[in-house]
Amino acid sequence: MRLIQRIQSIALGLMISAVSASAALAAEPTLTWLGHAAFKYSTGSGQILLIDPWISNPKAPKNVSFPHVDGILVTHGHSDHVGEAFDLAKKYNAPLIASYELTEIAKKHGVKNVFPLNPSGTVEVAGVRVTAVQAVHSSGYAEGDSILYAGAPLGFVLQEFGSMTLYHSGDTGVFEDMALIARLYQPQIALLPIGGTYTMKPKEAALATNMLGVKGIVPMHYGTFPALTGSPAELEKELTAAHATAKLHVMVPGTAVKVKDLQ
Ligand code: NI
Ligand code: MN
Repeated sequence: MRLIQRIQSIALGLMISAVSASAALAAEPTLTWLGHAAFKYSTGSGQILLIDPWISNPKAPKNVSFPHVDGILVTHGHSDHVGEAFDLAKKYNAPLIASYELTEIAKKHGVKNVFPLNPSGTVEVAGVRVTAVQAVHSSGYAEGDSILYAGAPLGFVLQEFGSMTLYHSGDTGVFEDMALIARLYQPQIALLPIGGTYTMKPKEAALATNMLGVKGIVPMHYGTFPALTGSPAELEKELTAAHATAKLHVMVPGTAVKVKDLQ
């Protein structure tokens, strides 16, 4: 009996420390660049969202691992964005958010938990409102010798209550309706590709920054392959030339940054 009471009090103690640990975790949301277009977003309550998780990309930190994954966002079907998304979704039973057609492809690969979205659609995952927006790009999923139709390419707006609103554009050229994204969702931070060839170069990204009205810009999708020649130094010049007021934040793969410090 005494032993049982002791076990009960230990269990209670553990529960109390678990509660205070989760209270301590109610901290600032953070963003970690995993190289290329891959990011880890940790919410204020410690939930983890992955965006375009090609975690084996040449610029990714070594031995990337996650204690848990609570949602996976994939902007389009190209392999440098789908990356390991299907395996991660299965391993962590994390919901996969992508275009309808791409979630259908994911289901054929054994992913069970999916949220299909198309532009203007919103889903709440891990306490974050995720809204799909337009991207000007292509989206096919290569399987064997064929390329499967993977729906429209997307960008995502992430809104966590009490935090900064983030816009991950996916692969895109610049387009005038970025002003509509600003009008509807007022993102404060934009994660934009600058490599060129398949996406915006620094010149277009600077104009995009102004149309979005963001306070901070994080360049991505550069330097991974030789074709992606745009650089943060070139972006800095273009931002100056475009009289942009947004601050440039060049992230280091693997280093978590408080989202509020990216504005
Ligand atoms: Ni692409
Ligand atoms: Mn790409």
